[in-house]
Amino acid sequence: MAKIGNIDVGEFPLLLAPMEDVSDPPFRALCKEQGADVVYTEFISSEGLIRDAAKSVMKLDIYEKERPVGIQIFGANLDSMLQSVEIVEKSGPDIIDINFGCPVKKVVSKGAGAGILKDIPLMVSLTEAMVKHTKLPITVKTRLGWDQDSIKIVEVAERLQDVGASAISIHGRTRVQMYKGEADWRPISEVKNNPRMHIPIFGNGDVDSPERAMEMRDKYGLDGAMIGRASIGYPWFFREVKHFFRTGEHAAPPTLEERIDAARRHLQMSIDWKGEKLGVFETRRHYTNYFKGIPHFKEYRQKMVTSDDAADVFAAFDEVERDFAGYEFA
Ligand SMILES: Cc1cc2nc3c(=O)[nH]c(=O)nc-3n(C[C@H](O)[C@H](O)[C@H](O)COP(=O)(O)O)c2cc1C
Repeated sequence: MAKIGNIDVGEFPLLLAPMEDVSDPPFRALCKEQGADVVYTEFISSEGLIRDAAKSVMKLDIYEKERPVGIQIFGANLDSMLQSVEIVEKSGPDIIDINFGCPVKKVVSKGAGAGILKDIPLMVSLTEAMVKHTKLPITVKTRLGWDQDSIKIVEVAERLQDVGASAISIHGRTRVQMYKGEADWRPISEVKNNPRMHIPIFGNGDVDSPERAMEMRDKYGLDGAMIGRASIGYPWFFREVKHFFRTGEHAAPPTLEERIDAARRHLQMSIDWKGEKLGVFETRRHYTNYFKGIPHFKEYRQKMVTSDDAADVFAAFDEVERDFAGYEFA
């Protein structure tokens, strides 16, 4: 059984990765329904939070039904991060996660996200200060290192554990790799195999099939899998992995009815949560995967992703339901 602080997260938990503009409350709720054991918010800027920037503050919203949920923050300034911890605590998350892995220039150039991989002592001291500043478990999400020549993740993980991190999720790429190439899980398993490590080590990067999740568990011996892209528009990924673990067989794919139902609820929850304009816009990226496999889908998809009017999108769902009734997904 893996535990994050005192939270029992089960045997080989599946974690929904933090993803900007994706891991919002509606999507997290859908993933939770389909078996995600822990969900994380997208990253939230500590500088934004302390300025009370509305966009950052809105990202703190959580639904009761998605627990345990971690709120992820990023930043490189000690005071801002500590103040953010206090702000985040008021939303009542179960976990606070620190983003030490975001590779994008605007974050890295301020020394935050993966930028901190160039300053390991700061990474460790920030983590330590945050652990001391809250009773909530602090988890860390990071990458293997800055570049191939500076991978010290075994040592870094040990130091993070020693200052009180409750779990570490490691994306098997360096900052320099961004999202290119294949994630390398071997250094992650070296972290796990370090006899001094006792906190959970979660693997991340390219878990895109139940078989790959099983490999992460059985071949690499990790404590859980953090799943990002494979879940976008496909919250059933969690249920499929769990089914495969239980039975050794592939679950039947979700039916058209399930897909339509998820798409409708996703859109409705998004509209309820962030209003029609943003709700319609930000749910768009999921539709391709929701309906993947349906032949000649382009025309329907076009309707879903071009209109700003929710009624048009709901109407497109109705059409799909009518025109493809009984369609069997492979
Ligand atoms: C659209 C998108 C947004 C992301 N936003 C974040 C983020 O806010 N915080 C973070 O730690 N990682 C973020 N990531 C990285 C993912 O959490 C994850 O580490 C990465 O996608 C590799 O996992 P995967 O192969 O399962 O997708 C993002 C990735 C994507 C594709």
